[in-house]
This record gives sequence, C-alpha cells and structure tokens, in this order.
Amino acid sequence: MKKITAILLVLVLASLMVVSCGGSGATLIGIAMPETHVLRWVKDGNSLKEEAENLGYRAELQFGDANQGTQNQQIQSFLTQGAKALIVGCINDGVAPVIAEAGREGVVVIAYDRIIPNSGDYDYYITFNNFKVGVLQAESIVAGLNLRAASAAAPKYITLFAGSPTDGNAFFFFDGAMSVLNPFIDNGSLVVVGPYPKTSADRANFQRIATENWQAPIAKTRMENLLSNDARNYTLDAVLAPNDTLARAIIEALKADAKYRGNLPVVTGQDAEFASALSIKNGEQYSTVFKDTAKLAEAAVILADQALKGQPINIPGAVLASGDLREIGNTGVKYVQAFLLDPILITRDNLDVPVEAGFYERHEGVQLLN
Ligand code: GAL
Repeated sequence: MKKITAILLVLVLASLMVVSCGGSGATLIGIAMPETHVLRWVKDGNSLKEEAENLGYRAELQFGDANQGTQNQQIQSFLTQGAKALIVGCINDGVAPVIAEAGREGVVVIAYDRIIPNSGDYDYYITFNNFKVGVLQAESIVAGLNLRAASAAAPKYITLFAGSPTDGNAFFFFDGAMSVLNPFIDNGSLVVVGPYPKTSADRANFQRIATENWQAPIAKTRMENLLSNDARNYTLDAVLAPNDTLARAIIEALKADAKYRGNLPVVTGQDAEFASALSIKNGEQYSTVFKDTAKLAEAAVILADQALKGQPINIPGAVLASGDLREIGNTGVKYVQAFLLDPILITRDNLDVPVEAGFYERHEGVQLLN
C-alpha cells in the first residue's frame, strides 16, 4: 500500500512541476506582437510571456516585423503546435483569416492593444482607453500653450499628425485629441496649418496626416515638407504627434530648421519610451502618454486564463467598455468585449510615474530623475 502511495505522490509532484514551469505538458498560449521598431512591443511581448509562464502556461512569443503575412505564418504555427489561446497585437486586417481558423478550432483569441478589424471570430479585446490617450495629448497642448488665454486676434498655430491608417487605435487617438482641440479651432484661437480633418471621419484628410505603419521616416519627411510649404510662413506653436517614435522624428526635422532651434513647439507623444522621456526631461518633447504595458500584459494573461477555464471575466484595473466607449470594441463585424486600462499623461512634472512603475531599466530611471 505504501509503495502505491509513494508512486502516486511522485506522479502528482511530477505533473505539478510540468504545469508550474510551463513544461511540455502545459497549455500553450501563442503571443503574436506586431513589430519591434516601436520599442514598447518588445516590452509587451516579454511581459506577456513572463506572465503566462507565471500562471503555469507554456508561451511562445513572435514579432511580425510589421508584416501581416509574416505574423499570419507565426499564428498558423502556434495553431499547428496546439495553442489553446492566442494573444495578438495585429498589424492590419489581413490577420482575419487566421483568426477565423483559430475560431473554428475553438481557440481563445484576445486582441491585444489593437482591435482585430473586420472579424467576427473572436470575443475579447484588451487595451487602454485610446480615446482618452488622444484627450490627454490635446490637453497637454492646451496647457502647454495656455490656449485658454489665446484668441482669434492672437491665435496659436498647430499642425496635425496621425498614426497608421491600418491601426484602429489611430482613429481613436485622433478623435480624442480633436474632441479637445476643435472648440479652440472653431473660436479661432487655434489655427491648423496643413490638412485639417475635424475628425477621423474625414477619411481623405485623415489619410493626408496619417503615418503608414507608424514609420518614423515617413513622419520626418512629412514634417520637412510642411516646413518648406504649408508652414513656411508660420511659426508653429504645437504639433499633435500620435506616439513617441513619430514625435522624435518630427522634432529632428524641426531642429534642422533655424526657426525652431531652441524654440521647439509643444510636441505630444505616446508610449513613454525612454528616449522620449529623456527628451521631455531635456525640454524638447513636451509630453507623452504612459500606458503601463506590464499591467496590460498581466491583464491579458488573466483574461486568457479565465477564458480558458470558462470563468466569468473579471480583470483588476480594467473596465468593460460601455456607453460611448463601447465603439472601441466594434470590429466592423461584431462588438467584442473590450476591457480598458487607464492611460496617464506624462510631462516634465511627473516623470517619476513611469520610473516608479518600473517601466525603465534602473540606470534609465536614475538618469531621468537626476
Ligand atoms: C498603437 C499603440 C500605441 C503605439 C502604436 C505604435 O496601436 O496603441 O501605443 O505603440 O501602436 O506601434
């Protein structure tokens, strides 16, 4: 009898070991991140893998190099390996066919910080309140320019950039920002130099200010063209830049123009990348928006775990999008359950927030706060 008990004990311990360190017997979660040229996705991917393994899952992480065909092959490989859940930060709607295949196989699919557009084959999306990201960007412009003291007699001048037209988030960022800026444009205290889509619904003008695949060189060239043409006879007071990689490229173009040397406009951003946090500390970029991707990754894995276990979804720190925000979960085919985390505006006054959150390497945090 004792021998059987001992054997059973060994078998139980062995199976616990396999599950706890994500061994070969553990459930596989496939993690597909879009790219690495925007550094935040590297943090996201590594956090997701770590969080999944902490919960006893096996996790495989791939980066799509901003090529949807590449990412589709990676997702296909996850499915071939028997993944029971996918966490996907897609590049564009070309991802839909492999999501459909995952849906047919009963695989849990979670859209990660980017909606999977034109698909009815998944149920969950976890992101930040992306409309609020834009609101925060614009509020930093209003504060930075003291816009409430401006008037049509003495207006401030702004030019507008948007993110990738293939990225559903870019439309929410822009519309959030314009919900704050349009009243100042309407009363003449803020004048737009260059194309002016009042909202992203003006697709023709939105396309003219959008930046394909968030590529920094495209933003830099467009800023250079604005300086030589539309903005030639103006001194810009602000640039709406949708994320940090584009913000730094725009600042590079501005600094090459004598008019802006030592006199940069208010330039916004997003993702609290270290290079931009340093730029903010040095008085160049004006603001960024911190989206704690460690928290997003933790929330995404909790969501996957609860969905895989058929439990009610309850994610600490995330709210289910409802009311006006429900649109964030509209894939164009169905409304998925969209869970939103809160973004935070960062300026020179609160660089300690991402530092204290452990968002940077230790030496980077020291550099930012000293
Ligand atoms: C968006 C994301 C932003 C930024 C951008 C560039 O989808 O929400 O945080 O990372 O992509 O990749």
